[in-house]
Amino acid sequence: MTAIVAITNQKGGVGKTTTAINLAAAIARRKMRTLLIDLDPQANSSLAFFDVAEMPSSMFDVLSEQRLDVREVIRETKVAQLSLAPARLSLAKLEQQLVGQFDAPFKLKDALVNLHKDYDFIVIDTPPALGILTVNALVASTHLLIPVQASYFAIEGTDDLVETYSRIRARPNPDLKLLGVLITLFDRRTNIAKDAVNQIRSVFGTSLFKTRISRNVRLEESPAYRQTIFTFAPGSPGAQEYRKLAEEVITRVQADRVARHSEDAA
Ligand SMILES: Nc1ncnc2c1ncn2[C@@H]1O[C@H](COP(=O)(O)OP(=O)(O)OP(=O)(O)O)[C@@H](O)[C@H]1O
Ligand SMILES: [Mg+2]
Repeated sequence: MTAIVAITNQKGGVGKTTTAINLAAAIARRKMRTLLIDLDPQANSSLAFFDVAEMPSSMFDVLSEQRLDVREVIRETKVAQLSLAPARLSLAKLEQQLVGQFDAPFKLKDALVNLHKDYDFIVIDTPPALGILTVNALVASTHLLIPVQASYFAIEGTDDLVETYSRIRARPNPDLKLLGVLITLFDRRTNIAKDAVNQIRSVFGTSLFKTRISRNVRLEESPAYRQTIFTFAPGSPGAQEYRKLAEEVITRVQADRVARHSEDAA
């Protein structure tokens, strides 16, 4: 079964895209066939691999009336085993287009049906909003990963996200699981960061990943050079931490599979 992981937090600038890019690359480097889907009209994940001219079609063409086959928009990246389904600014128009369509939340799920045999892992980068694009990601996913910035007001707004998660589980996607909460932009020298971690832990408990992503300028620089952290700065803390995160993610997904199997058998 393909694991489909939505990287979601409606708060902007918390490290969703940085996590989507580098987690997907880390998983691909472990020889798993991986697809990164960019569902954010800002297209930051896409632009970390290609320039706009290299991406003539995008997820917009898949999810809009055109219903292009997703395989026609997928491109291979220069990272072995990693493909990308790009976004473009036009995705922002989708919200209006889908208004009033009863199957609006299911467009992405339907589009991915034929991909399951092609990929072991699918990672979805989502926009900083809980609108129809994010809802499509959560309906199509098996797992949710929430990045939270270790700062003041870190958990502000996470109750809205948790509420959305519960509502998606109640109806359209009961199989959706919270894979984990990831602390990002962590600065161990500041008390604010330490306080934030304690606060996040008190809310999310064991859902917190053991791995934290530190603030590391290399992570900020690498997309501008169209590289992931693993080629741009392989020895950096950012590379080490995203490698560790990939291990944790894979372990949790596998544990979850075993649990689901034994539930089915019972
Ligand atoms: N661990 C980190 N260390 C240093 N800079 C980081 C780190 N993680 C992310 N950044 C930088 O912080 C900014 C926001 O990160 P990113 O784009 O990943 O967040 P986002 O949640 O995807 O934002 P948006 O909500 O706008 O999509 C970017 O400039 C990024 O390069
Ligand atoms: Mg982003």
